[in-house]
Amino acid sequence: MSNNDKSKVALVTGSSTGIGFETCLALARSGFVTCATMRDKKKSGNLEKIARNENLQIKVFDMDVDNDNSVYDTIEKIIMEFGKINVLVNNAGYGLFGALEDFSMDEIKNQFETNVFGVIRVIRGVLPIMRQHKNGIIIKISSLSGLAGIPTQSAYCATKFSVEGLSEALSFELEPFGIKLILIEPGVINTEFVNDLIVPTNKYGIDKSETLVNPSYNNEETLAVPLQQHGGQVLILLL
Ligand SMILES: NC(=O)c1ccc[n+]([C@@H]2O[C@H](COP(=O)([O-])OP(=O)(O)OC[C@H]3O[C@@H](n4cnc5c(N)ncnc54)[C@H](OP(=O)(O)O)[C@@H]3O)[C@@H](O)[C@H]2O)c1
Repeated sequence: MSNNDKSKVALVTGSSTGIGFETCLALARSGFVTCATMRDKKKSGNLEKIARNENLQIKVFDMDVDNDNSVYDTIEKIIMEFGKINVLVNNAGYGLFGALEDFSMDEIKNQFETNVFGVIRVIRGVLPIMRQHKNGIIIKISSLSGLAGIPTQSAYCATKFSVEGLSEALSFELEPFGIKLILIEPGVINTEFVNDLIVPTNKYGIDKSETLVNPSYNNEETLAVPLQQHGGQVLILLL
């Protein structure tokens, strides 16, 4: 892989599938040296194959956003190799969907670990090099669930609302250093997200599918109202 002073370097988290995978390809096809990070490098085959076929500058690195060493060691390796990080796409995340009381505190803390502290960890890792170069763009894949409270998504919404506040505050904090923050708030996108959802365990004797199809949560109006109130698109979640 070649790198020169002119090429821009992007780091994407959660690149094994979905939005992260496609973002890596889009960035590389636009000329970015793209550091595709994922927590399980065994999932990199497809991305690397496309990169080879199209001669794209994509290099895969290990990164589990839940883990300090994994995040900071990889950022150090990227800086050693490329000397800079111009763009960070904070994408890694998953959904914990179900009634709040059906989850253990550990499940809720894990949701925050990845969707909030994972984001903060990677941002803290890239900030020193971005500040040094007085240049950087930090993109966060939030969600419509970061704009409106949606039944069955209380924990997930709490993480995405956190990320919205974090980004707004940071955008002021980092402006003097030439670093911009961008929030992306997608609606429903057909990725592995739904397959990877974590739903309540059976500890109260409630069947997982039963919780998700509970009439109070499976009502089109119940789901549509919060989004309409926030001027959002009407989404009917078919779980
Ligand atoms: N799809 C939607 O409808 C939708 C809507 C709004 C927002 N979003 C947001 O978009 C982002 C990407 O989701 P997606 O739709 O592309 O789903 P996806 O296909 O399931 O991709 C999620 C990615 O995050 C990775 N990931 C999860 N935990 C991680 C960790 N601890 N460290 C590193 N990587 C981790 C997954 O890795 P593994 O392959 O190893 O699991 C996977 O690469 C998420 O933040 C999600 O909240 C999605």
